[in-house]
Amino acid sequence: MSERFLVAGGARLDGEVHVAGAKNSVLKLMAAALLAEGTTTITNCPEILDVPLMAEVLRGLGCEVEVGGDLGVPPGDRPAGAPSELPAGTVRISVPTRLSSSADFAAVGKLRASVCVLGPLMGRCRSARVALPGGDAIGSRPLDMHQAGLRALGADMSIEHGAVVGSAQTLTGAHIVLEFPSVGATENIMMAAVLANGRTVIDNAAREPEIADLADMLVQMGARVEGGGTSTLTIDGVPELHPTEHRTVGDRMVAGTWAYAAAITRGTVTVRGVQPHLLSSPLERLAGAGASVTAEGGADIRDGAAGESFTVEMTGRPRGVDFITLPYPGFPTDLQPMAFALAAVAEGSSFVTENVFEARFRFVEELIRMGADVRTDGHFAAIQGREQLSSAPVWASDIRAGAGLVLAGLAADGQTEVNEVWHIDRGYPHFVEDLVALGAKVERVG
Ligand code: UD1
Repeated sequence: MSERFLVAGGARLDGEVHVAGAKNSVLKLMAAALLAEGTTTITNCPEILDVPLMAEVLRGLGCEVEVGGDLGVPPGDRPAGAPSELPAGTVRISVPTRLSSSADFAAVGKLRASVCVLGPLMGRCRSARVALPGGDAIGSRPLDMHQAGLRALGADMSIEHGAVVGSAQTLTGAHIVLEFPSVGATENIMMAAVLANGRTVIDNAAREPEIADLADMLVQMGARVEGGGTSTLTIDGVPELHPTEHRTVGDRMVAGTWAYAAAITRGTVTVRGVQPHLLSSPLERLAGAGASVTAEGGADIRDGAAGESFTVEMTGRPRGVDFITLPYPGFPTDLQPMAFALAAVAEGSSFVTENVFEARFRFVEELIRMGADVRTDGHFAAIQGREQLSSAPVWASDIRAGAGLVLAGLAADGQTEVNEVWHIDRGYPHFVEDLVALGAKVERVG
């Protein structure tokens, strides 16, 4: 039987928590290292299994990769690789002159994000074969925009025998307008375009902070990228890049999870390691629900110059608030389950619209088993808050759903058993330890 968490309801979280680098950034930064021969070092990496899994993908392409520190996973589950002398949170990638351009299913199948090696391989090798990945069960997640963007640069792209396959004689800059600001497509096209001939403009690009982080690293490597974090990216191709050292941006999803955990337990939590303006939308919703949200030194939470910490305090019962998930800077789909859990115990009703991933409401069935009063219709959900949820055995279906269920368990009577917690471990380093340090009674068993 796989591991599960036993979550006792009723605790009030109180204290400080430190958040490491973003999962959704570090995996792309590791892929970007492929663009330059030599040794690239990435720091502030989160100690989650996806990092060594990505290291395996890169090793399969011919790189030597060292992952520092305790990965927070049992030794039996740890992918191959010699123990490292590197400090925790540091990854060192040595990229050879000649890369293999084929990432097979054995390495890629466990990690949806490994498709981000497609762009770097096309840029560096002008060919790629990347097995289609597994990953979160949150919708169909096609790659049409990734392929269309690379085709616009002159590549032949197809899906063959369960892999996305690309080849090109040359890559030439182009003007690309994305139908939807897809995070993954923006990243892959940007990473191919940095080594293309001439200028690429990506319009309707995704604006997520993790894309700005990737653009910053590419610039440090010698790429000419302007507009990272805005909806127009301008990339002037260069013949080659050089390795670099880069610090991963803090994980706003983990930080946002702690913000909601504080609110749902009517506690006070100071979150360090993430600038609050990267969470403006969810923090404003939390304030609407009755929480007090303060940035370091009393700065405005929307101020880009505010420090890397903020405090959320909730006294009394939260109020229901409506929210709509959208690409950044809208409300992030990855925090929808946590906000949903809060709505389930809020006073009054909340109306939720999910615009990004169609299957995100799968976790609602689990919340209903905990007594939540919810009705869904397509990508809409209406929630009538209850004073308290009722503990039950529940199953995590993806990283964020799992975290949302843990939060729901904190607000339930009795002990909630959250199963399939390997999903949660993929996104939340030291989650149980941090919860316990903040005063929750949570145990990992099995
Ligand atoms: C990334 C994040 C994920 C987050 C999501 C949206 C990583 C590893 N994952 O996922 O945590 O929830 O952004 O903020 O960074 N789509 C297409 N065609 C494409 C590409 C995407 O139709 O070619 C659709 C997807 O099915 C989805 C929507 O666009 O419905 C958003 O996807 P995208 O922004 O690409 O998300 P990911 O990069 O997969």
